[in-house]
Amino acid sequence: MALSPSLQNLSVTSVANGISNTTSRTRRRPSLVVHMATSDTSIGTFEEGRLVRPKWTGHTPISRLVVALISFKPLYSILKLGARQVLISTAEKNNIPWREMAKEILESDAYKELESIRDHSLEYPDYYLNPFHGYDEGNLTWLAAAEAEAATLSMVRRAIPDASSVDEANQILRGNWLQAIEQHHLKYTKTSMINDILDIGCSVGESTRHLAAKFPNAKVTGLDLSPYFLAVAQLKEKNRAPRKHPISWIHANGENTGLPSKSFDLVSISFVLHECPERAIVNMIKEAFRLLRPGGTIALTDNSPKSKILQELPPVLFTLLKSTEPFIDEYYLTDMEATLRQAGFVNIQSILTDPRHMTATATVPY
Ligand SMILES: C[S@@+](CC[C@H](N)C(=O)[O-])C[C@H]1O[C@@H](n2cnc3c(N)ncnc32)[C@H](O)[C@@H]1O
Repeated sequence: MALSPSLQNLSVTSVANGISNTTSRTRRRPSLVVHMATSDTSIGTFEEGRLVRPKWTGHTPISRLVVALISFKPLYSILKLGARQVLISTAEKNNIPWREMAKEILESDAYKELESIRDHSLEYPDYYLNPFHGYDEGNLTWLAAAEAEAATLSMVRRAIPDASSVDEANQILRGNWLQAIEQHHLKYTKTSMINDILDIGCSVGESTRHLAAKFPNAKVTGLDLSPYFLAVAQLKEKNRAPRKHPISWIHANGENTGLPSKSFDLVSISFVLHECPERAIVNMIKEAFRLLRPGGTIALTDNSPKSKILQELPPVLFTLLKSTEPFIDEYYLTDMEATLRQAGFVNIQSILTDPRHMTATATVPY
């Protein structure tokens, strides 16, 4: 695995100065700037805000006010509708044909994949059965599965607004995330081999496909709780050119996968944890520790509490966001570094890999 020149210049900050524990309040911290080398897939400078986490999260008065407003059912229904309309119209203005993409999936053969992938004996954790992202049945519907790719691209576009196209934004966001993983693995693993990769919370397979492209010699497995998302992922794979190692898709809970211990070199959990309560975050990190071989790498990528842009999100946007993300406060209050350390990980690092998101990486000791 050759280290690209741009990656050699990527500067990494330790998370040690980062997120405080679950009981502490939002407080001021010195402003920091994380620099990344300029290259085809990196975007210069991602600025950190001055707080430990955004004021609209956690136990602050503004956060509590928004939660109280959202819990008022009639207002929640209006917000849910508003959030959906804003998402779709913003996506389409940004050349992401949301409704067209969803229609194509809904009219495809994805439903034929469902039974080959669904584990009927799987028990869903309670949190997964809540209304979510504006869908009353959460991720357990065809509509959520049909809209997942457009929603993911919109998130990518929001993160990299200066990119010249959605494709470029995707290359930058995913490229920086993969570079952070590669750099960590090369630095801390004796053999630097990546033979087996698990993508927990793979959704319709976007992150899984990026991992497979970056590490073409590895066997890659995508795992998710939604059989609808997995059916779409499997169909998309069937419709593309065959790979040296076909991706495997597993319908399971990332908190307790049932997969053999020490069977992966890399476990990635990307854009999943902000959708989970703290208990599930802790369980998934412990499960990743069990699944990794000694020297193996865990990579978490998600909203950065330190992101200046997220700390300065306008009230309308954070209210809409909180109305569709029921566990966002628990995510922001979870001390990721402590959780990784308590699970047994070492070499814990974190970097802003785009203006909104951090990638935290850590190693299973030998
Ligand atoms: C935003 S999507 C992730 C997107 C994808 N990893 C990417 O980077 O594009 C979050 C996914 O996490 C899945 N998820 C949530 N809790 C899970 C759990 N306990 N086990 C497995 N998957 C879970 C959801 O079904 C959903 O597909």
